[in-house]
Amino acid sequence: MDWPYEVAERDPDERGEDLLLGSYLQLSAESRVLDVACGKGGPAAILAAAYGCRITGVEIRPGFADAARERVAAAGLDGLVEIQTADAAAIELEASTLDAALCLGAAFVWGSIADASAALRPAVRPGGFVAIGEPFWRRWPLPDGVDPEGYVPLAETAGRLEGEGFALTGLVAASEDDWDRYESLHWRAMEEWLAGRPDEELCARHEQRRADYFCSRRPLLGWAIFVGRKA
Ligand SMILES: C[S@@+](CC[C@H](N)C(=O)[O-])C[C@H]1O[C@@H](n2cnc3c(N)ncnc32)[C@H](O)[C@@H]1O
Repeated sequence: MDWPYEVAERDPDERGEDLLLGSYLQLSAESRVLDVACGKGGPAAILAAAYGCRITGVEIRPGFADAARERVAAAGLDGLVEIQTADAAAIELEASTLDAALCLGAAFVWGSIADASAALRPAVRPGGFVAIGEPFWRRWPLPDGVDPEGYVPLAETAGRLEGEGFALTGLVAASEDDWDRYESLHWRAMEEWLAGRPDEELCARHEQRRADYFCSRRPLLGWAIFVGRKA
């Protein structure tokens, strides 16, 4: 059975850092923002409520997009936030129309942070921003046997964004506590789900993922939002 992603990601992570991100992006009521792979709409709702900006969220999973719409409606933000159910890689973006393009935890839609920067750049106006959330390795070289998964150390990750025509103007890095909170939400969701349907193979994979987190991801892997201003 495929990994039940929608179960593991059932409870959206609430990141206080999104407010700081809004200030790095210089958001205001005049800003037009695209939120690629917006998930259940957490960052979009926080930013629209705080800054009054207009946000279009694009999410491929219909269940997540519906949850995002419900969240936006419950917060009274229908006039500011629109959620589209679509593959972000396939949407047409008008040139130079965005004040900010967000891609938080989904650079894989295009590939690496460099690919995501290159894909979003034409739609961002000169002087506008991208904000891309991407993992990076805290230690380098990696211990034997750890798969680099295409990620690189912090400075090189920032360099990948800068190499696509953005000056790095902000960095919002997750702490170990943030990582633990994000992983804990997955563990709780998986434990509850597996309790209702004994599945030895999935149970073993869930335990393996948790063990991998302790052995390699928690001590070695970081995650940060890289904010870049288009020249
Ligand atoms: C790690 S979550 C991040 C969610 C959100 N950006 C946040 O920071 O809370 C990645 C999201 O990307 C969505 N996704 C994956 N591929 C996508 C695609 N091609 N187009 C749009 N959304 C996609 C997933 O469904 C998931 O909601």
